[in-house]
Amino acid sequence: MLKTKIEDILNRQIERELYSSNLYLAMASWAETSGFAGAAEWLYFQADEEHIHMLKFIKYVNDRGGKALIPATSEPPRDFGDVHTMFKKVFEHEQFISNSINEIVGLCHEEKDFTTHNWVQWFVTEQIEEEATVRGILDKLKLLDGKDMYMFDRDLQGSRTKPVAV
Ligand code: FEO
Repeated sequence: MLKTKIEDILNRQIERELYSSNLYLAMASWAETSGFAGAAEWLYFQADEEHIHMLKFIKYVNDRGGKALIPATSEPPRDFGDVHTMFKKVFEHEQFISNSINEIVGLCHEEKDFTTHNWVQWFVTEQIEEEATVRGILDKLKLLDGKDMYMFDRDLQGSRTKPVAV
C-alpha cells in the first residue's frame, strides 16, 4: 500500500508526464507547420514516449493500491521561435523532469519506501539518456550556427523509431 505522500508525488508526476507529452505535441505541430518534418517526427515520437511514461506511473500507482488521477493540464505554448530555441526548451524541460524524478527518489528515502525507490530507478536512467540525446542535438545546432538547417532536419528524420510500451 502506498503512503499518501508517495501517492501524491507520483500523481504529481502523472501530471508532469502528461504535460510533457502535450508540450512535445505542440512543438511537433509547430515544427511540422514550419517546414521541419524531421524535427516534427522526432517530437511526435518524444510525445509518444512521454505518454508511455505517464502510463507507467498510472499503472504503478494503481497496482500498489493507490488511485492514479488523470489531471487537466495547462495549454503548452503555441510558438517556439526557431528550431534551436525550441530544442533549448526541450533540454530545460527534461532537466525539470529529472529534478522532479530526483524529488521522488528523495521522498522514497525519507518515507523508507524502498519498493517505489527501486521502481523509479528506471526513470533515473531514462532521464540520463534523454538529457544526453537532447544535449547531442544542441551540440549539432551550436556547430551549425543557423546554417544548413535543411540538412539538420534531414538528419533528424528517421533518427529514432516509434516508441512502444515495455
Ligand atoms: Fe518523461 Fe522526458 O521525461
